[in-house]
Amino acid sequence: MSRIAYVNGRYRPLAAAAVNVEDRGYQFSDGVYEVCEVRQGRLIDERRHLERLRRSLSELRIAMPMTEAALSTILHEVVRRNRVRWGIVYLQITRGVARRDHAFPPAGTRPSVVVTARNLDLDQAERLAAEGVAVISVPDNRWERVDIKSVSLLPNVLAKQAARERGAREAWFVDRQGLVTEGSSSNAWIVTRDGKVVTRHADQAILKGITRTVVLDVLKAQGLVLEERPFSLEEAYAAREAFITSASQIVLPVVRIDGRPIGNGAPGLVATALRRDFHRHAESS
Ligand code: PDD
Repeated sequence: MSRIAYVNGRYRPLAAAAVNVEDRGYQFSDGVYEVCEVRQGRLIDERRHLERLRRSLSELRIAMPMTEAALSTILHEVVRRNRVRWGIVYLQITRGVARRDHAFPPAGTRPSVVVTARNLDLDQAERLAAEGVAVISVPDNRWERVDIKSVSLLPNVLAKQAARERGAREAWFVDRQGLVTEGSSSNAWIVTRDGKVVTRHADQAILKGITRTVVLDVLKAQGLVLEERPFSLEEAYAAREAFITSASQIVLPVVRIDGRPIGNGAPGLVATALRRDFHRHAESS
């Protein structure tokens, strides 16, 4: 079965789905995106993802190209046409197509909308969660507005590749103060020796993950103590547990940071329990 993408009003086979070479997403990474988990063919936390999309667009002064209801219909249709049971749906909106000029295109230029979806390997994901993953640290060399989910991801691409080349799954960005901000495509968490769960507060230095928001609810329901504050790399090395969160990985235990084992070097109880309970607290549509 060939995969289907939605591009500016049309559902097309992936091989034939294309955008104009003067699309501002292609030339300036002038656009935003969202990634939503799909589970049993349903979208997880769609409402929150669309809310964050609206905010990203508004921060960059890109017009919302259609109503949220129309966008939602397209997301579900792409999932259906690709027969996604467990996987992701990807939505990208750019400032549209115009003759190349850094400044905004003429008023009325229509934003471009692309939606794709694909299945992921659930067994492989569960195996990864059971084993835990390795993380490396890299300097955070991104701009100051990474709270906007823009498609401008070059530092993230380079960080992820550095992780791959060192046998790790994720790279944690560390700011000039030696504090961990977040992963190249996930939020970063630790559990201290005395059992407190720590993640950086959501300012402009991290993306406010939807998975992160739901995990805060799970923590509360489990009666765990939360500290929303920055933590240093040294604190992470000495932590009892560490984990990462994102729409496609849910909660994934971290068992090594820069080659040092975290806790006893196996997935921790807190991360495992958060992963287990996550979908009880997430919305499904
Ligand atoms: N990444 N931080 C960054 C830099 C991210 O790219 C992501 C998500 C997150 C977690 O956000 P959420 O919980 O809403 O997925 C944090 C997506 C999945 C991606 O780029 O594929």
